[in-house]
Order: sequence, then structure tokens, then C-alpha cells
Amino acid sequence: MEIIIEEAKNNDKIPMKLLLLADPSEELINKYLHKGIKLIAKDHDIIIGVLVLLRLRPETMEIINIAVVQEYQNKGIGRNLIIKAKEKARQENVKTLEIGTGNPGAIQMLLYQKCGFRIVGVEFDYFRNRYKEKIIENGIECRDMIRMKMDL
Ligand code: COA
Repeated sequence: MEIIIEEAKNNDKIPMKLLLLADPSEELINKYLHKGIKLIAKDHDIIIGVLVLLRLRPETMEIINIAVVQEYQNKGIGRNLIIKAKEKARQENVKTLEIGTGNPGAIQMLLYQKCGFRIVGVEFDYFRNRYKEKIIENGIECRDMIRMKMDL
């Protein structure tokens, strides 16, 4: 298996189904997708992973979406997407990289800490206040947003 990670080109059509793995709201995805830098992981010509980087402030970017097709998960692709995002953000003169995950995201929190992120705060009821439907993950309600950051 040879996976290539690169910045998406205009003709790369990122599957909505993939983006929805990380964010259940198509409406919100459509609001940020065109504004972000999109990194993609490809197996031959098929897109099997995505990461969207969004500039929040002049020296701060957020990884607003990261997802890997289920059959390709736990093979290091997510980690490599984050490594590439760090490189890209540095090229863009970014000093702080942010990411957030819901309270049930234990695996995500492990991965992000392995990549250098630290927990900096919790936004209580973030998901309840923004999403119409209740989100259940790993058997519990996804209610609070765990905020993480790293200095580049
Ligand atoms: N069980 C335990 N740890 C796991 C794991 C699993 N099933 N999957 C990943 N990890 C942890 C491991 O600690 C691993 O570190 P290691 O290589 O030292 O063992 C680390 O994460 C790296 O995992 P990696 O294989 O690079 O991650 P991935 O390619 O599976 O991508 C996600 C991670 C989160 C992008 C992917 O699981 C996904 O798309 N999930 C659904 C969408 C989502 O939740 N997005 C994030 C929203 S905040």
C-alpha cells in the first residue's frame, strides 16, 4: 500500500462522506471547506484521508476537520496528515496550531497528544449549542469540546 499525502488541487473532489466522519454537519462543513487549505491522503487515485487547515488569526491555524476512511484507520495516515499540516502551517508563518475534539474522542486525544498537542481548555456544551441533533459517540453524548494547541 503506497499512500501519498499532498495538498488538494482544484480538481480533487473530496468526498462529503469522508468529511462527515469528523463533523456531522454538512452545513458547517460547506461553510469552512472552501476557506481552508486541504491536505489529502490518496491510495493510487482514491482519496482515503483528508485534513482541513483554517486560518483563525494571522499566526494561528486550526485543524478543523481530519478523517480517514474506516478501512485505512490505525495505519498511521492520520498521524502523517498532521505531520504534513505542521509543515504547511510553518510555511504559512503560523506560530500556533489548534485542534478540538468531542469529549468521547479518547483515541483522537491520544493521537493529538502523540503529535504534540496539549489540552488547553474545555468549551462546555459546545456541541449541544451548535448541532440540532444529539451526537452519540462511543456510547456517550458528545457534548463538550476539548480544545488543544501546540506551538510550532
Ligand atoms: N485504538 C487505539 N489507539 C488508536 C486507534 C485505535 N483504534 N486508532 C488510532 N489510535 C492512536 C494510536 O495511539 C496511534 O498511535 P501509535 O501509532 O503510536 O499506536 C495513533 O492514534 C495514530 O493513529 P493513526 O493510525 O495515525 O490514525 P488514523 O489514521 O486512524 O486517523 C482519525 C485518526 C481520528 C483521523 C481516524 O480515526 C478517523 O478518521 N476517525 C473518524 C473521524 C474523526 O473522529 N475525526 C476527528 C474528529 S476530532
